[in-house]
Amino acid sequence: MKKQFIAGNWKMNLTMNDAKDLARRLCNEAVNSDAVDVGVFPAFVFLRDICEILHTSKVYVGAQNMYMEKSGAFTGEVSGAMLRDVGCTHVIIGHSERRTIFQETNAMINSKIKAALSCGLSPILCVGERQEERDAGKTSEVIGNQLTEGLAGLTSEQIKELTIAYEPVWAIGTGNTATPEQANEVHAFIRNILESKHGNDTAQCIRIQYGGSVNSKNANELLGQPEIDGALVGGASLDPKSFLDIVYEAVRLS
Ligand code: 13P
Repeated sequence: MKKQFIAGNWKMNLTMNDAKDLARRLCNEAVNSDAVDVGVFPAFVFLRDICEILHTSKVYVGAQNMYMEKSGAFTGEVSGAMLRDVGCTHVIIGHSERRTIFQETNAMINSKIKAALSCGLSPILCVGERQEERDAGKTSEVIGNQLTEGLAGLTSEQIKELTIAYEPVWAIGTGNTATPEQANEVHAFIRNILESKHGNDTAQCIRIQYGGSVNSKNANELLGQPEIDGALVGGASLDPKSFLDIVYEAVRLS
């Protein structure tokens, strides 16, 4: 069993004060277990403060997105080097909200992953099918394309730096979690693709998180699946107790 990675995607939520309180709470609680990795992904404007609060803890801090260019006339965007500069170690790339609301393509996501790796950030690449794609039996095709195009041109060594998050779009923010079996099946499919393209060694190294309405009640069953190596948590990561309960569940299972 791999070390589980529990990540909280705070999305466009919280005030600065609430974000800092949440980070302090995570810092003070026993999230410093070596048994699991924990990370939080606040909005850009909170990153510097949250990095400062958490830098003495083992909690990773990352951004929810970045731009693929190093610098220049890209009004409103943030580069990987800027994220490193304020203390981030990770970045979420290709979240379904970026893909659908902001029209990010697999090609853009691929460029962002390369840019993140080149400045020493560890990307979490999100993949996942929409409800109508699942209903049409296209889950494998959609996820296969997201992986193949998203990871194009990367070496196996680079791919080992990644985490993949399987987030079925129909499960995000809906309370409709994939069943543990459904999630495990897609995770196994993702690992098979990684193995066929990049070898068993790479496929076995990579952690595949599940995301989509994970909470303290369903975490045990989901995280107990053999192919699930952690969770990318949205709503439940905004409440310290819920998030910590998920972390402790992962510790118990380790
Ligand atoms: P919810 O946990 O709120 O469904 O969000 C999941 C998600 O999008 C995490 O990136």
